Amino acid sequence: MSFDVAAIRADFPILSRQVHGKPLVYLDNAATSQKPQAVIDAIVDYYSRYNANIHRGVHTLSQEATDAYEQARIKIQKHFNIKKKQEVIFTSGTTHGINLVAQGFSNLLTSEDEVLVSALEHHSNIVPWQMLCERTGATLKVLPMNAEGTLAMEELEHVLSAKTKLVFVNHISNALGTINPIETLIEKAHAVDAAVLVDGAQACSHIQPDLDALDVDFYVTSAHKMCGPTGVGILYGKEEWLEKLPPYQGGGEMISEVTFEKTTYAELPHKFEAGTPNIAGGIAFGAAIDYLQQIGFDAIANYEADLLAYATEELLKIEGMKIYGTGPDKTSVISFNVGDIHPYDIGTILDKLGIAVRTGHHCAQPVMAYFNIPGTVRASFAFYNTKEEVDALVVGVRKAQMMLS
Ligand code: ALA
Repeated sequence: MSFDVAAIRADFPILSRQVHGKPLVYLDNAATSQKPQAVIDAIVDYYSRYNANIHRGVHTLSQEATDAYEQARIKIQKHFNIKKKQEVIFTSGTTHGINLVAQGFSNLLTSEDEVLVSALEHHSNIVPWQMLCERTGATLKVLPMNAEGTLAMEELEHVLSAKTKLVFVNHISNALGTINPIETLIEKAHAVDAAVLVDGAQACSHIQPDLDALDVDFYVTSAHKMCGPTGVGILYGKEEWLEKLPPYQGGGEMISEVTFEKTTYAELPHKFEAGTPNIAGGIAFGAAIDYLQQIGFDAIANYEADLLAYATEELLKIEGMKIYGTGPDKTSVISFNVGDIHPYDIGTILDKLGIAVRTGHHCAQPVMAYFNIPGTVRASFAFYNTKEEVDALVVGVRKAQMMLS
């Protein structure tokens, strides 16, 4: 079946709106994806028909809501090829998942230990580990990057050792689009008995990770990058790790028994799910997965690869164009500057033309520091973008260049 982008676009109501009198060209998908009608309907349906708290009531609405929420957990489990349902912890998003694990390691590390982070990380995969190091006295090591915006894997042997207890890396860089060699990193980390956490926030809208095959210890992602709502995501953890880590938050739903003398904790996954969760969000996350599955990740990857190649070629025709992130394995992100024009100025002019991009450091200041720049313009694509939208971007950047030079 051919990829019918026009039919796909019709599923996304927002794509037909105008901005400043121009058709919206939405190229900020790495910040958040747009939502298809099926996901919007799942949220409306929950609040219109069966809004109730879950895991708590004998009444019909509560049971319907609990079933729908737990069905979503199973959809997520199958989608990521996770062995056990209890290894899927609902979170408020990637940042929450990372902090849950970082907090959990507070009593498992000592000042003799080291943790290793890649140079390509988002601040959310740096700061929680720095805080963990402050609490434990462990040392934070960095796997450097190189001029292509890829990880300097030849340096791994200098920063990974028997002292390393944890390794953190994103699956795909949000700032540059680089796909990191996580299979190799997981294998090498396991060879020294270090656990690995992969931040999949940027990956899961482009590829379908097989977490069982990856043999990763922890994997975190957010629904809103995958056509789902904001405020919900998952932490996958191997059961033995999740059993070992203490609960992140205390509260209702995460207990087995409470007395004033002692509390025992609930079984997984509830041990990590204190409080009323984002029920509508979890159910809609399941609807987003259904939607993406129906399109198919092979089709998405092929379509996006063609779009990325076209966009790269067309943008490079602009005089003074410098693209950051030129490694062989990358996905739908083009981070660029034009001459010495400030990225914010280009982004502002593009907005007036109806084109949405992100400008700035993209919460990855160490990456910008490596290139010695304050930031970039970042165009990030999804499977519902078109070559006509790429053309609009190129025309817009040329116009900005003329106005600002
Ligand atoms: N992490 C998101 C981005 O890269 C918000 O834009």
